[in-house]
Amino acid sequence: MRNYYIAGNWKMHKTRSEAAELAKALVAQLKDGKHKYLVAPTFTSLETVGAIVKGSNILLGAQNCAPEEQGAHTGEVSVLQLKDLGVQAVILGHSERRHIYKEDDEFINKKVKLALKHGLEVILCVGELLEEREAGRAEAVCETQTVKGLAGVAAGDLGRITIAYEPVWAIGTGKTATPEDADAIHAYIRKVVGKLYGADAAQKIIIQYGGSVKPENAAQLMAKENIDGALVGGAALKADTFVPIAKFG
Ligand code: 13P
Repeated sequence: MRNYYIAGNWKMHKTRSEAAELAKALVAQLKDGKHKYLVAPTFTSLETVGAIVKGSNILLGAQNCAPEEQGAHTGEVSVLQLKDLGVQAVILGHSERRHIYKEDDEFINKKVKLALKHGLEVILCVGELLEEREAGRAEAVCETQTVKGLAGVAAGDLGRITIAYEPVWAIGTGKTATPEDADAIHAYIRKVVGKLYGADAAQKIIIQYGGSVKPENAAQLMAKENIDGALVGGAALKADTFVPIAKFG
């Protein structure tokens, strides 16, 4: 039986005081929540939010990290610096990183391995563009991103990997994949993980759905066999919308 895992990706929103206010509300309102939770504020709010969620049932996540531990990487943030702030997990391969900042699978894979090496959990995002879906390539794109993203990851580290299926056309657009369409891709990704790591690993891996998840559609998505949680963007920015998703059903 897989546990549900609901994560809020705050993207490039909120000042420290706004982030603190949201984090306090979530700690109070999710303390009786039954699932696994994470919030990923911007780098500048990590320390503030980390102090608030410490000791709660909400993990502290970062939205990205550099592919190297340290060095001449102007503008980047190291996994060592994240760990120093108490970060427990990092979102990698988000479509905004892939498409706006042109990160490719090899680059993302370097970060995945580095984050694992330093003991962090990873949420690895995969997902197709609208034109790829329309060309019938959704499964193939997700397979490539999963296989290349996990290249060189030891079976023993897979327990610290969550995959987030985020169809790019559903992110921030209000268009959600139907629960059936999302579940079909989740099942396919699970099969891909099975080919790489065996049936037991495939059964255990948590696969979140992301893309216009709202209080109104969370329960239907989560009811699907292969959907084990959500990576929430817009609706994660307010306790009023994130809490009902986090306590769906
Ligand atoms: P929205 O929930 O705003 O569509 O964003 C999804 C997302 O990209 C989470 O990482």
